[in-house]
Amino acid sequence: MQILIVYHSDYGSTEKLAQAIAAGAAVAAPGADVKLQQAQQTALTDLSAADVLIFGTPVHMGSMCWQMKQLIDNSARLWMEGALEGKIGAAFVTGGGFGGSGGGAEQTLIALHSNFLEHGMITIGFPKSLPGYADGGLQWGACARTGNHEGMPAGIQDAALVAGRSYGMHIASMATQILNNAG
Ligand SMILES: Cc1cc2nc3c(=O)[nH]c(=O)nc-3n(C[C@H](O)[C@H](O)[C@H](O)COP(=O)(O)O)c2cc1C
Repeated sequence: MQILIVYHSDYGSTEKLAQAIAAGAAVAAPGADVKLQQAQQTALTDLSAADVLIFGTPVHMGSMCWQMKQLIDNSARLWMEGALEGKIGAAFVTGGGFGGSGGGAEQTLIALHSNFLEHGMITIGFPKSLPGYADGGLQWGACARTGNHEGMPAGIQDAALVAGRSYGMHIASMATQILNNAG
């Protein structure tokens, strides 16, 4: 099983969450090939070669960053071919979340799921029973608030990385079951 985690990160928080998800996935699926890759270094052939695609972005102005959107828009060619149909998708975001209101994190996660579903993929959310849900989960995926009360960047908290790790384990274990049943 090939698990490809594609992300963009300007200041490192989304990258740390990506690494936590990768660590969890590697524990739950020890035989899997787990790769981390930046969006701008990702080719369409990387997407079509993977069984599981996990996309992560910082929230920028209430939506995903342009680097992830560029890759997703470029993937329209794969949509024409149906090349991603039946693959598994999962999503994560980090956002300043000024005022604790989320700052667009939820709609950004939904947009990523929407893109996966557009491709005919199967998406995996973050069940509330998983460890870390209260600190870094939303039903849509892993979600970390990185801003302080003044709206300034404070970095990602350890508790959100624990949630990321547990989300990675969940994705890998669900993907193993789905792909095994698909034969
Ligand atoms: C251009 C820009 C726009 C941003 N817009 C938002 C926003 O709309 N909502 C939000 O919650 N955070 C916003 N942020 C904060 C980032 O999402 C947050 O600091 C994130 O964790 C950065 O991730 P990174 O360290 O991986 O780059 C913005 C940051 C930048 C640089």
